[in-house]
Amino acid sequence: MDKLIIQGGVPLCGEIRISGAKNAALPILAATLLTDKPVLIGNIPHLHDITTTMELLGLMGSELMLDERMNIEVNNRNVDRLYAPHDLVKTMRASILALGPLLSRYGQAQVSLPGGCTIGSRPVDLHLKGLSAMGAQIEVNDGYIHAHSRRLHGAYINFDPVTVTGTENLMMAATLADGRTVIENAAREPEVTDLANCLNTMGAHITGAGTNRIEIDGVEQLNGASYDILPDRIETGTYLVAAAMTGGKVRLKNTDPSLLEAVLQKLSEAGAHISCDGSSISLEMETGAKPRAVDINTAPFPGFPTDMQAQFTAMNCIAEGRAVITENIFNNRFMHVGELRKMGADLELAKNHVVVNGVDKLRSDTITAKDLRASACLILAGLVAQGETLVEQVYHIDRGYETIEEKLMQLGAQIKRLP
Ligand code: EPZ
Repeated sequence: MDKLIIQGGVPLCGEIRISGAKNAALPILAATLLTDKPVLIGNIPHLHDITTTMELLGLMGSELMLDERMNIEVNNRNVDRLYAPHDLVKTMRASILALGPLLSRYGQAQVSLPGGCTIGSRPVDLHLKGLSAMGAQIEVNDGYIHAHSRRLHGAYINFDPVTVTGTENLMMAATLADGRTVIENAAREPEVTDLANCLNTMGAHITGAGTNRIEIDGVEQLNGASYDILPDRIETGTYLVAAAMTGGKVRLKNTDPSLLEAVLQKLSEAGAHISCDGSSISLEMETGAKPRAVDINTAPFPGFPTDMQAQFTAMNCIAEGRAVITENIFNNRFMHVGELRKMGADLELAKNHVVVNGVDKLRSDTITAKDLRASACLILAGLVAQGETLVEQVYHIDRGYETIEEKLMQLGAQIKRLP
């Protein structure tokens, strides 16, 4: 089990390149199942979740070619196993994204239930309800979703609550359905829009992506395409918070400021000086200044992203003042609080709120990551703690951050990976 050892107290300075977005790459790889023509996908991040998805597609009979620049060509002309097994799905719940494409293109699918994870129960009832509305026969038994349909037909679907992968699954299924599908209260995340843009490049007829009403007119078939993944807004936000916490000065390239306006707004409120030009974002703190405490309320896009909540909790631990952080999306996304307390943070947890009183310094310690964004939070805490912090179970972080220690070392951090 890999560990990261971090010597705290170094202001991060320099520039790094942001990778493609994990949460766009996963649905777009699943979308290749909708055609038997080759699809070339660029700017794919080199992450464990991507490897898992490629393994899953390979099991189904996909032919995958990866070039040295991390472009992937996917050819599904020989897909013949319409099955997503538990041992893969349990490591990555986004495998549920195979369900819509398999059902729509092949008329059947067996996909293991993803089950819960450390951040909450993570049901998929809205996915199944939407597919049933489109004419699918769905049974759930022995831990698997068994779905069949002759040809899906268009439907009117109103999501409550907003669901990102639910919107993506139904949008993919609707591209080959008979007639029009309308998704009300659709997720507006940029990754949903990126998927819609990729599907339209493949010949789909999707309008309204990025708004809360998406319309999809089914077509007979989709074609091959070449498509580049958009930048990762959560990776971008994570490195900006790292710079704000350590009092540094960084420039992040190959990103897009319009993807994380709510995060940039909160960093400015915390006292960071931010400047954007086209595809790069620069952040600088006043020399020696600590960030000011900022209240956080997570919400669906364009609100403040839940995937940045843990990182801002870490920043508030050493900020000037008191902040209230409210998690409105998941029912158990404060797994990092206990580990931060071990480092001397002053946090009071009550239902879906955590009240943070900033302290002068955090103590280094041996801490354990419990999920992807909690891992990022603990690494950020290690960057400012006094002495050497050991973060264990870092396989979580490798699911969502490409070569994190190399990028942090490029910014001057004293960090190394131990086997
Ligand atoms: C996506 O997860 C992201 N994952 C998550 O990122 C992100 O935190 C989340 O959206 C919210 O933005 C991917 O895109 C691969 P939801 P998803 O369905 O789609 C409830 C990361 O760290 N719900 O939008 O699984 C659900 O319980 C990951 O990169 C139902 O009740 O999240 C939650 O309370 C973590 N029934 C709320 O909706 C359903 O059928 C939002 O969940 C589906 C969801």
